[in-house]
Amino acid sequence: MEKLRVVSVFGTRPEAIKMCPLVKELASRPEIESLCCVTAQHRQMLDSVLEVFEVKPDYDLDIMTPRQTLSTITSKCLLGMEEAIAALKPDMILVHGDTSTTFAGALAAFYHQVPVGHVEAGLRTYDKYSPYPEEMNRKLVTSIADLYFCPTVNNKNNLVKEGVENGIFVTGNTVIDALKTTVREDYVFATEELNRLPYNEKKVILVTCHRRENYGEPMRNIFLALRQIAETHRDVELVYPVHLSPVVREAADEYLRGAPRIHLIEPLPADEMHNLMARCYMVMTDSGGLQEEAPALGKPVLVMRRETERPEAIAAGTVKLAGVVQDDIVTMAERLICDGEAYKKMARAVNPYGDGNACRRIADAILWYFGRGEKPEDHQA
Ligand code: UD1
Ligand code: UDP
Repeated sequence: MEKLRVVSVFGTRPEAIKMCPLVKELASRPEIESLCCVTAQHRQMLDSVLEVFEVKPDYDLDIMTPRQTLSTITSKCLLGMEEAIAALKPDMILVHGDTSTTFAGALAAFYHQVPVGHVEAGLRTYDKYSPYPEEMNRKLVTSIADLYFCPTVNNKNNLVKEGVENGIFVTGNTVIDALKTTVREDYVFATEELNRLPYNEKKVILVTCHRRENYGEPMRNIFLALRQIAETHRDVELVYPVHLSPVVREAADEYLRGAPRIHLIEPLPADEMHNLMARCYMVMTDSGGLQEEAPALGKPVLVMRRETERPEAIAAGTVKLAGVVQDDIVTMAERLICDGEAYKKMARAVNPYGDGNACRRIADAILWYFGRGEKPEDHQA
């Protein structure tokens, strides 16, 4: 029997971190030819992940331009995917999450009548401008997809409520599979500055911030809050690997550069980032991925956004929504810095996002879809 050609399509850093383990799992199955098509919506940040996970793309659309707009990303991906599909002849296309690459990849697959598997399906805020444009991207992909790989039961329930009847699997999130391969107790950082941080003597706070809906006023408020925290508390060190988006870098330069106890550093390779997270005191972020990784590593997270599509870790008590108002962020951070009991309550390792076997379940479900294997059991949280 011919092998099934399964093409994983991704383009940004978080998609790559969550898809590389799956590309490898698929490659380990004798029935599958696992191919990888990158749009390179992110260039440097994508390449860094590919290097860490040792994945070599079979097709590279290389679309990134500085300050790209949503329309240019989507149209370049859509056109590029036409050639990629002609060259790779997939039996199935896998897309991940909610980026512009995700949407364009799914749409291109549909135009060529290739079935689509959606990894990390069913996340919702039900506010179409938050996160923007991600909430709309993932809803549109739901309409196109044939298979839905949901990290949690809650994600599955969202899809069922919206009328999706078939093809839903609860798999856990592949980010937990990725973490299992990157985090080590005896890890030595390649970035020398990270080896020198006073993890035991001080409270090292890991920060990231990049979302489009936070551009402008919210990002300014967030940065002023971070500055206030660092200026007030001599026992903290803030480490912020700054995203390569020029909008983010300009704001970080304006509000944070030169502040005491704030380390603005370059984006970190995924293995460095995951091990830094494992050693830090707490996380302050507007990232989606960090809300899943930090709870698994027992680190409290303050989410600097108005809402989240990841309520599971809030329910478990390790994540709190801090919003985008300066005073609120400062108050919530100070509670964790100064109140040992409040900190301990949040710093429990919970794992609502999976057991590290999501990729295995996804590969099994794909084989089942093509009549080449048993239907896998849902992951029980
Ligand atoms: C994108 C995703 C967002 C995801 C984020 C992860 C969309 C619309 N947004 O947002 O969902 O959370 O990635 O980080 O799909 N740049 C570089 N080099 C890189 C990466 C980015 O120079 O390796 C710069 C470029 O100038 C680029 C800009 O950053 O134009 C913004 O990148 P883009 O992919 O458009 O948006 P993100 O904010 O990164
Ligand atoms: N990450 C990384 N290096 C960094 C910052 C983040 O490897 O300097 C990782 C992080 O651990 C997580 C992912 O990138 O796995 C999250 O990506 P990002 O915050 O860019 O996007 P989001 O998850 O918000 O879509």
